Amino acid sequence: MQEKEIRIPIRVYPTITELPKSHQELILRSRQALTRAYAPYSHFRVGAAILLGNGEIIEGNNQENVAFPSGLCAERVAMFYASSRFPDVDIEAIAVAGNPIQTPITPCGSCRQVLSEYEWKQKRPIRIFLTGLSEEIWELNSVNDLLPLSFNHDLKKK
Ligand code: THU
Repeated sequence: MQEKEIRIPIRVYPTITELPKSHQELILRSRQALTRAYAPYSHFRVGAAILLGNGEIIEGNNQENVAFPSGLCAERVAMFYASSRFPDVDIEAIAVAGNPIQTPITPCGSCRQVLSEYEWKQKRPIRIFLTGLSEEIWELNSVNDLLPLSFNHDLKKK
């Protein structure tokens, strides 16, 4: 028997000013995006902002529906829109903001799967910033770090 351990580095910043300006801007854009969320059922607002290799920032927020499963999370709204507008441009980073939640929001399982797909597609890591209402910011080097032991694309080819 052999035991394996998976370690995921998370950088915790006590305040936004410790980050470079471009990442500060991305986080602010995700916070702005959540104010436009359509969340009449949960009253839980989520914003996402995606920084593309061409400098564009794409925003998204959660869109709910009276038939609950028909709604969509902020991360997927932003990611699908980014990919539909700029299919050949790499994604540098995504910031996600939640309200009301004190600690940094962490994406749901379906969003992790979707984010992971685009990282696999571009063969380059997508950095992710997570925030809540508190000042604390979490940074992960790769969205795949949120989905350890995920279904492997290489397996699909066999
Ligand atoms: N939600 C997101 O937009 N992103 C997440 O990572 C978690 C949950 C949304 C879905 C729903 O509109 C609301 O938050 C409450 O679950």
